[in-house]
Amino acid sequence: MEVKLSNGKVIPMEMHKIKIVQQTFLPAIEERIEAIQSAGFNTFLLKSHNLFLDMLTDSGTNAMSDNQQSAMLLSDDAYAGSESFYKLEEAVQDIFGLKYVIPAHQGRACEHLIAKVFVKPGTYVITNYHFTTTKAHIRLCGGEVIELIGDEGRITNSHCPFKGNMDVLELRKTIEKLGKERINSIRMEATTNLIGGQPFSMQNLKEVRKIANEYGIMMVMDCSLISENAYFIKTREPGFEDKTIKEIIREMIEQVDMVYMSARKSAMARGGLIATNHQRIFNEILPNVPVYEGFITYGGMSTKEIESIAVGMYEMVDLNIAGSGAEFIRFFANRLIEYGVPVVTPPGGLGCHIDASKFLPNIPWNEYPAGALAAAVYIISGCRGMERGSLSMDREADGEEEQSDMELLRLAVPRRTFTMSQLEFLADRISWLYNHRDLIQGLKWVEEPPVLRFFIGRLESINRWEYDLLQAFQSDFGAY
Ligand code: F0G
Repeated sequence: MEVKLSNGKVIPMEMHKIKIVQQTFLPAIEERIEAIQSAGFNTFLLKSHNLFLDMLTDSGTNAMSDNQQSAMLLSDDAYAGSESFYKLEEAVQDIFGLKYVIPAHQGRACEHLIAKVFVKPGTYVITNYHFTTTKAHIRLCGGEVIELIGDEGRITNSHCPFKGNMDVLELRKTIEKLGKERINSIRMEATTNLIGGQPFSMQNLKEVRKIANEYGIMMVMDCSLISENAYFIKTREPGFEDKTIKEIIREMIEQVDMVYMSARKSAMARGGLIATNHQRIFNEILPNVPVYEGFITYGGMSTKEIESIAVGMYEMVDLNIAGSGAEFIRFFANRLIEYGVPVVTPPGGLGCHIDASKFLPNIPWNEYPAGALAAAVYIISGCRGMERGSLSMDREADGEEEQSDMELLRLAVPRRTFTMSQLEFLADRISWLYNHRDLIQGLKWVEEPPVLRFFIGRLESINRWEYDLLQAFQSDFGAY
């Protein structure tokens, strides 16, 4: 919910009160320098106690509600036939309108199961845009990903309300060129993560469905961030103003054959699930669940988490909750814009994204400007974000580096977690960094894993630039 102040300014409002807190600390800059060096300049390898604000991700880091926590106490730890699973099944049937529910331990486990069953070597998944783990699973099964995001999706500064839209003209051309039998599915990712958490419109989704129907191609939707996409449809797409988030979600889901989701994002819990109304799809995937995840009524999740997802699904269709992340992100992004910092516009649905190629134009893409910026932001604020650029891309089979379309630093805003003064502090420190950006240089590899290298790879700074930053920071602010 946003409220208007008497000076005309609009601010986001926390529609909750804080009942329980976790203490956080702001380490001194010298400690932060040591921490980032021992983390190989990879923010994934920082420890919680090194951090002030953890904005690495909005995945599994959202604050739970009292109702989610109390539901966890009622969980039924049966190996098979757990009551908790049937509550989740009912929630999915009610909110998504889908009959068959398959539990899995998180989003990528769903991707693994789906790829294993449907991706044959030499086939393609056409998607609006890839997600890292999705692409990895498709490739591991011998398939390839084709991205058909519209031109606006690749432009960081835009007024386009639906940058996550698929280019439907290209979709038809691509199907005609490759032949429909080589395309195993069309995947639409809600609140498209890697281009800055950008939504697709209902109209675009329906146009894609129409083409998929013409060619008889299965459609899959990644619903990890579905409530935010529905919020953007409600607030940006004509004709949806008066619909509820639940009605919009239903309409979205009616367009596809199968959905899957990481329950760590919109649903504010941990875990994952696949759901469909097609018995054939269900029957094909289900036998894989006991092999890779766990029995079909827990799928590798704790039953406590299953209970919290069931409640979280009802919460995510509450307008005050579905929109709260997006509204805080807009507030934070607008602050940075006021300071002249280049951020992705319109602000998206899971975090604020800084355009590192504009922030650090002197660092070439293969010295990872967004990775260097992530390290620099940590050094000057104690807050960690996540590189979403060329470092997050794996090498091609021939060892060549793959350049990302964008070099972004994502500062995720987990739901119900941070306060406005924390975001004000971070925006101020980033504006200072922007004025000292010439001190930052690139990164180079020390240890580079072959798959999903960004998670655990280690790098070092070119010319030890962190010490230049340290000196400038200390002379302006002292230790903090
Ligand atoms: N799909 C999307 C759109 C995601 O954002 C994620 C995870 C996954 C699938 C995989 O789900 O983590 O539960 O296995 N995104 C996290 C992030 C990791 O930080 O953006 P998972």
